Amino acid sequence: MTTLAKSPPLKTKSSDRIYNFSAGPAVLPEEVIHQAQQDIWNIFGSGIGIMEHSHRGPVFDRVIDEAKADCRAIASIADDYEVLFLQGGATTQFAMIPMNYLSPETVADYPDTGVWTTKAIKEAKYFGKVNVAFEGSKIGYTHVPSDAEIKQSPNAVYLHYCSNNTIYGTRYNKPPTTKAPLIVDASSEIFSRPIDVKKHALIYAGAQKNLGPSGVVLVIIRKDFIERGKKDLPSMFSYANHAKNDSRLNTPPTFGIYVMGQVFKWIIKNGGLQALERRNADKAKLIHDAIDQSGGFYKGVARPDSRSHMNITFRTASEDLDKKFVAESAKLAMDGLKGHRDAGGMRASVYNAFPKEGCKVLADFMKDFASRNG
Ligand SMILES: Cc1ncc(COP(=O)(O)O)c(C=O)c1O
Repeated sequence: MTTLAKSPPLKTKSSDRIYNFSAGPAVLPEEVIHQAQQDIWNIFGSGIGIMEHSHRGPVFDRVIDEAKADCRAIASIADDYEVLFLQGGATTQFAMIPMNYLSPETVADYPDTGVWTTKAIKEAKYFGKVNVAFEGSKIGYTHVPSDAEIKQSPNAVYLHYCSNNTIYGTRYNKPPTTKAPLIVDASSEIFSRPIDVKKHALIYAGAQKNLGPSGVVLVIIRKDFIERGKKDLPSMFSYANHAKNDSRLNTPPTFGIYVMGQVFKWIIKNGGLQALERRNADKAKLIHDAIDQSGGFYKGVARPDSRSHMNITFRTASEDLDKKFVAESAKLAMDGLKGHRDAGGMRASVYNAFPKEGCKVLADFMKDFASRNG
């Protein structure tokens, strides 16, 4: 009989972790990871780990009920909205939204502000007409549109926008003004600042940046908007069906929902969205200042009035120098600073759980690197 080696002891000190600037999957709060380590083994003293519990048993009932209640508390979500936990990542929402609401004879408005909206537009075109209400490609996606720059159609069945553009590092300072039902892809900034739920018919976010493991998607959807969805859809693609079945139409991603619930508790414990907004602004400022005070050594990709507080994009004068920057930063325990292939340069993703200390370390390194290579 072969004897299996013992697992190494659990590592519980932050000292063996490095600064993770990844755009997603991304850094999670350390407290949440420690709690998950324990609950994977035995949750609520049930003698069974979270991943092994039935999705219809009392333990998971408690997990999902608490997650929903905490999510509602965080964003002041009123009773006329449903909170759903779905699967397939944000990309599935790109198709599910038009599948439910768009037809060949109707039109939806999509300001195109980067790779993710371009993908959403492509999916929507399978189901109906799309009005590309702002063509960000013409300005290299360096800023998001003002209300005046969005060319809305008179009878759009919805307006879809992406509140934070992960790749180019731009964000809307406020949602677009429209009479059409407003839908937002908030994947890379959900719960990093207050969100006016009432302005939206549907809010969605893939979990892997600010909420938990990849695969799960948080959907906050107004009940009357659910009712407007098409009725003749396969079960898994109907919001109405998911709402009727309390996000448990089939076996849901139980572990992902559990982690999201723990992250919600962490957000509440850390003072909620206003406190996180202040903290995120301070963190982002450290890096933006390092760009602005470099005497032109670093160039920010985003126009200053569109700058994201989650994904900070910048470059030096040459690709070779960018490569050197990324290589040297990696030696100093900073991982994931290489920019997305479509934007080039560098990108520092500093989501809710990313520590301010890490932003200081990066800003200091940026100054040092500029002084040695300028
Ligand atoms: C803004 C935005 N929307 C959508 C997606 C796609 O998410 P997923 O990979 O979960 O489908 C991403 C990816 O990271 C993203 O940043």
